[in-house]
Amino acid sequence: MKAVLCTAYGPIDGLIYTELPEPEATGSQVVIKAKAVGVNYPDGLLVQGLYQAKPELPFIPGMEMAGTVESVGPEVKHLRPGMRVVATAGTGAFVQKGIFAEAQCIPLPDDISDADACALMCGFGTSHHALKQRGLLKPGETLVVAGAAGATGLAAVEIGKALGANVIAIASTDAKRDAARAAGADHVIGYDNLKDALRELAGKKGVDVVFDPVGGDTFDTLVRTMGRHGRYLVVGFAAGRIPQLSVNLALVKEFCLVGVFWGAFTQHEPAVYAENVRELFGWHRDGKVKPLISARRPLSEAPQVLTQLMERGVSGKIVLEP
Ligand SMILES: NC(=O)c1ccc[n+]([C@@H]2O[C@H](COP(=O)([O-])OP(=O)(O)OC[C@H]3O[C@@H](n4cnc5c(N)ncnc54)[C@H](OP(=O)(O)O)[C@@H]3O)[C@@H](O)[C@H]2O)c1
Repeated sequence: MKAVLCTAYGPIDGLIYTELPEPEATGSQVVIKAKAVGVNYPDGLLVQGLYQAKPELPFIPGMEMAGTVESVGPEVKHLRPGMRVVATAGTGAFVQKGIFAEAQCIPLPDDISDADACALMCGFGTSHHALKQRGLLKPGETLVVAGAAGATGLAAVEIGKALGANVIAIASTDAKRDAARAAGADHVIGYDNLKDALRELAGKKGVDVVFDPVGGDTFDTLVRTMGRHGRYLVVGFAAGRIPQLSVNLALVKEFCLVGVFWGAFTQHEPAVYAENVRELFGWHRDGKVKPLISARRPLSEAPQVLTQLMERGVSGKIVLEP
């Protein structure tokens, strides 16, 4: 079977598309025949050795896969061959047949496509956890989303609306702003004159919650728009620079700087995570969230897709179809 392999940390075009032996499920493992594989920004960091985790080489990148259970190990309790599932892990998804622990798999309702199931994991999962458990976003509050046409940003726009917030989306191009508008943002702006634009839109009260997967200069500006008791969600650093904060700003406005780490959350709080998945699947069924799948590409094109993603060239989500 075909797989994408990282044999050395380095440039993304060093990834190898190769033939590997068919996996065999032992213990509580399942083998999943992939129908869709999600591509995520952290995959691009991971293969370059720029992520907080550094898997042992060689490894198969990829964090999420949806498809059909092909075989199960003798200790598997709930999954059977033929069931549709979505699986998440730190690595192992850029492959035609993935091997995952049963605990990493979630059975899929018929009404969720394989591509949407992938989008609902890292992208929507991060934003949902961020806004619900970390940001405590309440109806009527003002939410500012940076990188609002990206995988986590677009999800934050939709989830922000589902939670009843007034959503201000920031994106760099007309096409990306159109995507944010179509996702339901109440206001859509660019990065130019950001502070003034936000002062006008958020008024004297300031911003209640910021969802920031961008960092860099965007952080420096957004952190000065916070309202009293606001929550600033640190999600990622797509701009490349990890910003510094003069903490007197937090003192003056009594705002909170709140870290978000979806992967750690799924490990440390499985029951809350399961409840989040149930809620997201329900919102998807009710049409409250609708992932934008902007392209479907062959597995062999994983390096090109990852490069496009890291170079700011993707709106919503791209899935690989092995
Ligand atoms: N904390 C967590 O649990 C968690 C989970 C998933 C992802 N993340 C992190 O969150 C960040 C975004 O992830 P994502 O999945 O939303 O990625 P994405 O789909 O690529 O979106 C990132 C957005 O950042 C903006 N951006 C600004 N400057 C950029 C630059 N120099 N290069 C690339 N993008 C830039 C882009 O929007 P504009 O062009 O409109 O500026 C882009 O749409 C990454 O750092 C990722 O590692 C964190």
